[in-house]
Amino acid sequence: MEEEWRRLELEILNCSKCRLSNSRTRAVPGEGNKKALVMFIGEAPGEKEDEQGRPFVGPAGKLLTELIESTGYKRSDVYITNVVKCRPPGNRDPEEDEIEACLPYLLKQIDLIKPKIIVTLGRHAGSTIFRLAGLKWTSMAVNHGRVYVGKIQGREVKIIPTYHPASALYKPPLRRVLEEDFKNTIKPTIDEEMGKKPQPRGKTLLDYI
Ligand code: URA
Ligand code: SF4
Repeated sequence: MEEEWRRLELEILNCSKCRLSNSRTRAVPGEGNKKALVMFIGEAPGEKEDEQGRPFVGPAGKLLTELIESTGYKRSDVYITNVVKCRPPGNRDPEEDEIEACLPYLLKQIDLIKPKIIVTLGRHAGSTIFRLAGLKWTSMAVNHGRVYVGKIQGREVKIIPTYHPASALYKPPLRRVLEEDFKNTIKPTIDEEMGKKPQPRGKTLLDYI
């Protein structure tokens, strides 16, 4: 497992499968708990991420960290990555062929982590994960804040699309929408999955008789 992760991360760091490799400073594989119940998937690294080689460390990352903490979990409890691992020049949208070239890395990460829940951030992540899961993407306005059940590589996973935190930075009313998606859908769904994990058993009356 460790060895597989090391190999995957090295492959991403040295990848030149698409044109984004020409303009990036550093590829950004992702970070967090490799046994997480929840994966957060964004679009692509921005300027700060490209400098530091870590996902969501700029202004959008600060908001994402606050939103995750608002659920009572820590950033380090979850795994955070992007659909595309290298920064598109000037933060333009990733192109179809770039997403296709990079997809095997995301699939491998999903395969290794086996998350129960995937939260997608923004339209690109939402529509890409829906396609992988055999679900029909309609629009962010329709799909955000709801739980969808799909299968990715034969494993059932709950998918919750929401807006990209960066969109709330230039459209302030979206911040409330994001906060409500975290409060009303994302937190309860994580809590429910946490409740299914076998808990270490404390002593009961039966242990004393
Ligand atoms: N926006 C993203 O989609 N991903 C990041 O890692 C940072 C900003
Ligand atoms: Fe490779 Fe993905 Fe970076 Fe393109 S975006 S060079 S496919 S790691």
